[in-house]
Amino acid sequence: MTVTQTRPLSATEAIETRRSIRQFVQEPIDQNDLREILRLASLAPSAWNAQTWRFAVVQDPQLKERLQEAAYGQKQIGGAPAVIVVYSDMEDTLHNAEETAHPGMGEAGRTGQRQTFDRAFGAQEEAQRGQWGLAQANIAFGFLMIAARGLGYDTVPMLGFDPQRVRELLGLPAHVQFAGLLPVGKRAEEGFPHHRHSVDRIAKFY
Ligand SMILES: Cc1cc2nc3c(=O)[nH]c(=O)nc-3n(C[C@H](O)[C@H](O)[C@H](O)COP(=O)(O)O)c2cc1C
Repeated sequence: MTVTQTRPLSATEAIETRRSIRQFVQEPIDQNDLREILRLASLAPSAWNAQTWRFAVVQDPQLKERLQEAAYGQKQIGGAPAVIVVYSDMEDTLHNAEETAHPGMGEAGRTGQRQTFDRAFGAQEEAQRGQWGLAQANIAFGFLMIAARGLGYDTVPMLGFDPQRVRELLGLPAHVQFAGLLPVGKRAEEGFPHHRHSVDRIAKFY
């Protein structure tokens, strides 16, 4: 179904009409829409409000080409007007714990946030806390797809790429972990209808 966009879709409409799209209309993405999609995704919740997610937005054709190579040649990368690389940077989060304290809680909030993060993660290995950070970033990844669809855009989530190569291409440190790549644009194909488990297959009611 092609949705002609005159207003933001409801959450229900966005979820119902999102499907993986791998062919996009060849036109640049409106930069205000792009920023709004990222802003909406940043409203995702996270434990202790840690907001471990970071976004690398790639629109440069040459860099997209190299990303496509790192994704084993998957053409939806080069064919999308923008590719959002969603990753988690837990070390940045930890070093700047105070900035995620709610301003309404004042200096005590900032101190408390620092103590919370140091207690929870200070003694952990980078890789272990990195996994925790990634779990938070995955929430934003989901929000991002729905936010894009809500504003009339389409996406395809991707984990089929060499993470080390993507770190190198984007100049990211070794500790960052990827939620995925997200090509974004307007759909130039219909994608596949949903094929999903029934609620009875996946839910138990107590
Ligand atoms: C975490 C994740 C990784 C994925 N990786 C790829 C990928 O590398 N390449 C691809 O073409 N599709 C990829 N997909 C898309 C899935 O195949 C697709 O979401 C699934 O088949 C359901 O179809 P739908 O998105 O159209 O509802 C990925 C999806 C998710 C959620």
